[in-house]
Amino acid sequence: MEIVEKKIISNYKCQRIAQLKIKAPQIAKKAEPGQFVVVMVGEVGERTPLTVVDTDKSLGTITLIAQEAGLSTRLLADMEVGDSLYTLVGPLGHPTKIKNYGKVILIGGGVGIAEIYPVARALKQAGNYLISILGAKTKDLLILEEQLKEISDEFYVTTDDGSCGRGGFVTDVLNVLTAGETYDLVYAVGPLPMMKKVAELTSTFKIKTFVSLNALMVDATGMCGCCRVTVGGEVKFTCVDGPEFDAHNIDWQELQVRNKMYEKSEKHICKLKNT
Ligand code: NAD
Ligand code: FES
Repeated sequence: MEIVEKKIISNYKCQRIAQLKIKAPQIAKKAEPGQFVVVMVGEVGERTPLTVVDTDKSLGTITLIAQEAGLSTRLLADMEVGDSLYTLVGPLGHPTKIKNYGKVILIGGGVGIAEIYPVARALKQAGNYLISILGAKTKDLLILEEQLKEISDEFYVTTDDGSCGRGGFVTDVLNVLTAGETYDLVYAVGPLPMMKKVAELTSTFKIKTFVSLNALMVDATGMCGCCRVTVGGEVKFTCVDGPEFDAHNIDWQELQVRNKMYEKSEKHICKLKNT
């Protein structure tokens, strides 16, 4: 669980995005695209779920990307090479179903781009035609651009402020693409409003759509119920039934309310740390 490599891949205003390579041979051996780990930085603190972005079976390492969103992710970004995590559990969740779907649109919003990268590589290997749409608030928050460009057959970038690529949201590009062509799958990861909007758009065109949810988690083993989400009228646990679900069956409104539960205290802690 030792950190063997660390890079700050974005540092915009008070939020860093850290890329950490961690010694974890058992997880590296087993993790598949779409799965995640749960990290604890210290004995006291949150358990943070993070997607396994990459694995190196020969070196026994996994790569994680974390954006500072509260105290725990801030402490994680503060860790240096040689430091060890308090606990690391995984791989968790179901892997993405990888097969040759045909024409696939991958949408990554903000730090959600880190989550589409391993899936994109596996889908490409399975023979899919990949169209990637990456979106960020601004150029400095755009991550893994080169890596995804390299494996995509078509590649689009949007920034909210127009500092890179097309100005606007990822859904603006999706709108244009879906108006003129048919696609076999859309796979989207990013903030909830983005995934909800993607689901609305693709349901109009009846395009199968998967999203990976980052519901709040405590134990991540299906025991506490913290990560519950309603899918197709049934209660599911994101940690053991997900993290991917059919976007057209999710109760987005309920999920938005649940995910805002700790927003106030996270902002408060962030403020305290900056004073
Ligand atoms: P962000 O707010 O910068 O948004 C990223 C992109 O998503 C935007 O540039 C835009 O293209 C698109 N977007 C945002 N709002 C939209 C809307 N209303 N309609 C259409 N498109 C929209 O993203 P961020 O700051 O990196 O992430 C913010 C949130 O995403 C955090 O709450 C974080 O927890 C969550 N997140 C989710 C996952 C996941 O697994 N689903 C992964 C990482 C982060
Ligand atoms: Fe407890 Fe999923 S985190 S049930």
